[in-house]
Amino acid sequence: MTMSGWTSIHFLVVVGFVLLFLKEANSVSNTVSSMDEGEDPSVREVTNLNLTFRGDYQRARVQAHKKVVVCYVATWATYRKPDEGAFDIDHIEPNLCTHLIYSFAGLDNTTFIMKPLDPWLDQKLQENGGGREWFKRFNDFKAKYPHLKVLLAIGGWNEGSKKYSQMAGNSQNRQVFIQSALDLIQRYGFDGLDLDWEFPADRGGSMDDKRQFTILVQELRHKFDKYGLMLTSAFGPALSTATKGYELRELAGLLDHIHLMCYDYHGAWDRKTGHNAPLYAPKGDGSIAESVDYYLAQGVPPHKLVIGLPFYGRTFIIPDEGQLGDALSSSTGRNASVRAGLFQGAMDKGFQGPYTKEDGFLGYNEICRELTASRGDWTTYWDDVAKVPYMRNGNKWVSFDNPDSIREKVKYITQKKLRGAMIWSIDTDDFRSTCGIKNALLRTVNFALYQNVMPGDDVIPSTPGRGPLRPTAGASGLQISVVLGLIAATVLYFLG
Ligand SMILES: *[C@@H]1O[C@H](CO)[C@@H](O)[C@H](O)[C@H]1NC(C)=O
Ligand SMILES: *[C@@H]1O[C@H](CO)[C@@H](O)[C@H](O)[C@H]1NC(C)=O
Ligand SMILES: *[C@@H]1O[C@H](CO)[C@@H](O)[C@H](O)[C@H]1NC(C)=O
Repeated sequence: MTMSGWTSIHFLVVVGFVLLFLKEANSVSNTVSSMDEGEDPSVREVTNLNLTFRGDYQRARVQAHKKVVVCYVATWATYRKPDEGAFDIDHIEPNLCTHLIYSFAGLDNTTFIMKPLDPWLDQKLQENGGGREWFKRFNDFKAKYPHLKVLLAIGGWNEGSKKYSQMAGNSQNRQVFIQSALDLIQRYGFDGLDLDWEFPADRGGSMDDKRQFTILVQELRHKFDKYGLMLTSAFGPALSTATKGYELRELAGLLDHIHLMCYDYHGAWDRKTGHNAPLYAPKGDGSIAESVDYYLAQGVPPHKLVIGLPFYGRTFIIPDEGQLGDALSSSTGRNASVRAGLFQGAMDKGFQGPYTKEDGFLGYNEICRELTASRGDWTTYWDDVAKVPYMRNGNKWVSFDNPDSIREKVKYITQKKLRGAMIWSIDTDDFRSTCGIKNALLRTVNFALYQNVMPGDDVIPSTPGRGPLRPTAGASGLQISVVLGLIAATVLYFLG
């Protein structure tokens, strides 16, 4: 055989190895089958819906990449019934998170002191010899997992906005609040505070909130810098919320992260089915990409932006034919979009799940259980515009996220060079392995971050006041694989 013949064979071997490697790294692609009438990319029936984690288990951890994975825990999840739905501290896997956020503490509406909302769960109580001490137990993780930061969140939807407005609007109230927050954080060894005021200048707040919120954050930052504490905040994704409530450029300069709550874009309140968290949508309809573009355009640096991923879905009830004067039954005579039920009229209340028992809400653990146990009753779809799945069973309709949509969103996070992912919330992941591997979604987040590691990911400018907080890790697994692959290919090449 001629020299050039051998060279071609060597070349093919090398290419083969490279292709094999790429195939390994990408063993997670999407197979969706179009419906017969399926010119509409938002109506594609999925025949093979992947509900469990697929990838390299060892690389599905925060040490394998350079992004943050901020894990909120809704601590009341411990009370869910029946027990399969109850989330306890032992279900937390600290290697899947860089930050844990304890949700929530509250604000006293007369003294403006930050206080525990569930003292029995949060603290040790002298009376009755009780208390489950979760404040302390969350922070205890750090002894064994030194990469982990634990923050305490204040606020949340149920706390409302009015008392936060009253606190932020008055210098004396702010000082009382800031000192009380510092005391609580230091007493239990938290690494910082996450502000979840939903939302400044909204829901009973005042028009001054926008300015006063910045002043509050300035004063907190000033105080926290003396103790090396982190300061982050959860922000609303709606452009109207952001315009009304936040001086974004200034806030981004003061906060370590902005946790952008990229979910609840649509729900039963729309009286129309729609996606909870679409990655893309026509301009003005609301989507993650639209929110992110807005935040970046307002001067938020990409390395301050952490994108929220919902580990839950939104539920809807599509009325029977005639009920809203709308002909929307699931009859087979209708076209594909009507049968799929996307963007169709719906009741103003959704349905509940067996564990979370909240109208219009289903945890991913409830969704995957339903799809495993009653799979035949549901038709599942993949919207190739929004890059999220949805499913229908008669009048019941659900928008949700699965490993496939999580991978799409993580890819977007890395392409945009954002800081990382935030999860609301890890207590509705498949933490009891009901549908496959434990914590399938959170594992998918980490593995997808590993797969998308890009050169320069670790070059992050430090924040004012304190350096960036991130897990220390050497060369990533991907870099090591690439180097090993090249060495192996070279050796083979010269051996031939
Ligand atoms: C599900 O996973 C299998 C095996 O990894 C893969 O072949 C298939 O393409 C996946 N399907 C979807 C819808 O992602
Ligand atoms: C504070 O909250 C309590 C309990 O929700 C309520 O009864 C009371 O009216 C509130 N006080 C003020 C000053 O808003
Ligand atoms: C299907 O029905 C919907 C709603 O009536 C309509 O908007 C859409 O144009 C129809 N699509 C096709 C392909 O006929």
